[in-house]
Amino acid sequence: MRRKKQMLVLLLCVILCCGCTSPVRVQETNIKYVIGVSLANLSEQWRLVLKNELEEEAAQYDSVRLVILDAADSSDKQAEDVEQLLEFGVDLLIISPGDVEAMTPIISDVYQNIPVIVLDRIVEGFDYSLFIGPDNDLIGRQAGELILDILKEEGKAAGQVLEIKKDSMASDSRSEDFLMTISEAGIENHSICLKEGTRDCAEDFLQAHPEMLEGVDVIFAHNDYMAYGAYLALQKLGREDIRIVGLDGYFGDNGGLKMVEEGIIDATVTCPTGGREAVQYAIDIINRKSGIPKQIILRSHKIRADNVSAYQQEKIQQQQKEGMIHVGYAQIGEDSNWRKASQESIQAAAKEFDIDLTVAFNAKSLEEQKAQVRQFIADDMDVVVISPLVSEGWQDILSEAQEAQIPVLLVDRMVSVEEELYESYIGADFEEEGRRCARWMLRETADREHISIMELRGTEGSSPVQGRKDGFEEVIAGDDRYQIVYSLCGDFSEGDAKRAVREYLMANKWDIDVIYAHNDNMALGAAEVLKEFNIRPGTDVKIVSVDGTAAALEALQKGEINCVVECNPLLGPQIMKAITDLMQGKELPLRIITDEMVFTKDTPKELFKNRKY
Ligand code: AHR
Repeated sequence: MRRKKQMLVLLLCVILCCGCTSPVRVQETNIKYVIGVSLANLSEQWRLVLKNELEEEAAQYDSVRLVILDAADSSDKQAEDVEQLLEFGVDLLIISPGDVEAMTPIISDVYQNIPVIVLDRIVEGFDYSLFIGPDNDLIGRQAGELILDILKEEGKAAGQVLEIKKDSMASDSRSEDFLMTISEAGIENHSICLKEGTRDCAEDFLQAHPEMLEGVDVIFAHNDYMAYGAYLALQKLGREDIRIVGLDGYFGDNGGLKMVEEGIIDATVTCPTGGREAVQYAIDIINRKSGIPKQIILRSHKIRADNVSAYQQEKIQQQQKEGMIHVGYAQIGEDSNWRKASQESIQAAAKEFDIDLTVAFNAKSLEEQKAQVRQFIADDMDVVVISPLVSEGWQDILSEAQEAQIPVLLVDRMVSVEEELYESYIGADFEEEGRRCARWMLRETADREHISIMELRGTEGSSPVQGRKDGFEEVIAGDDRYQIVYSLCGDFSEGDAKRAVREYLMANKWDIDVIYAHNDNMALGAAEVLKEFNIRPGTDVKIVSVDGTAAALEALQKGEINCVVECNPLLGPQIMKAITDLMQGKELPLRIITDEMVFTKDTPKELFKNRKY
């Protein structure tokens, strides 16, 4: 591999020199990282923006070289490009796949040999190092909200929309939430789907089909270039009365931000490419830095004439905070092993990043936790970090923090508020954890006719409980062999779980095939009670749990628990990096999802070693 890389570096130097007009000595290069980039095409404007961002970011580092290949919208060529980059001996692959279905197995194979960062369109499964992309559902909702605002300003309770889509998965996903948002308000919509998402395609279509504009109040185009094409067509057809909403919101003369500034379109939704983040994380991954997330979901913004200048200013002039950073952290007080590990990780990372951390411990209720946050606001902290006990009831206090211009980070658990009220969520994908538990159970019980499940839930109203429940039930839905015959709240605690299982055993003949525990403490408590009743945990009844604490992994190796889905509590480094980035004026991703694995009896022994909790 090293020889290949030397050849690649020499090839790169030759290319660099051949590109020059005057003879140059082949410079001694200090290239350390050669990153292969496979782009589905360079015909779409946003991919050109992506390529520029990748190159601009890489240019910040003398030691980084990119080798970028364009698949010209051909899956066969993208597969060949990937093969060629591997042949070059690149250290890491960044890929923006075209046909996700076709590229998933190819990416999975590459991932067995070198790290892979997937951009924009997520592949099936988790065979990649890191995914960076937008939240397409949110983008669709934001476009719908913009249209409702425009119609409201025009005093139109009803209205008609013409949606101009393009033929892509992202467009379909955005369209779903867009249509849901406007239909809830009773707005009528007609959709057309263009083969190519280009200006000319949109302009030509509308000029050829003016009848499609009958009664239309607003056009929503799935990118700013189609929006511009619609604008040109409306000018020629004398339909300047129709308002236009675009998507992508890029900088530059042909970008959507300028179109909004010049009144060509009324609004757009930004869709960041993730190119800069990809290069930054590629270097960390190649350097085997710890705490690399599994998914980075980028933030999108609604842009109109009244905020387009401020948005551009913020992106250009990043306000830096000098000096010590003061952080208030409102955490949860329940006594799970997980929580202790989480607390230790955050405090250790604060020390390492030299951040002044004030922790408000042991909140046992929403009101208590909100009072702690209110105190941090009064103390004028630079950042407030919250592990919210429950999901509901946070709108008021987060609005107060926003009014006080104190950024809020949500860690470990999520809350139900609009995205503008927090800077980022750093934590797990709880729905996926629930799906992983259920997928293991399906494999484990494939030959069984009927499976009775006991579910031990965590703290009522908390996002891990809702997510794990939803994800588990999503996987077993439609297969009536599986029945959750008993579901009760164990509040993530061993004691509550013991009481619940004991009560069940006292009142019922034991008929449970699988216990699904939302965390290890409850799984361990249940196992202990079963043994009191001469029922063998892990044998007479299968147990699947979430967290991955030492005690649970020990029980798994003894066969008393059968599957443990990791919920990584070691969020400290990611939280402190996010805070540092924030204080340097960087915009944080909307969500930073941690990397997690699944433990079973077949898990290689070395993966149980050197764990930190
Ligand atoms: O929010 C994460 C959950 O909180 C963990 O799964 C549980 O152990 C903790 O109490």
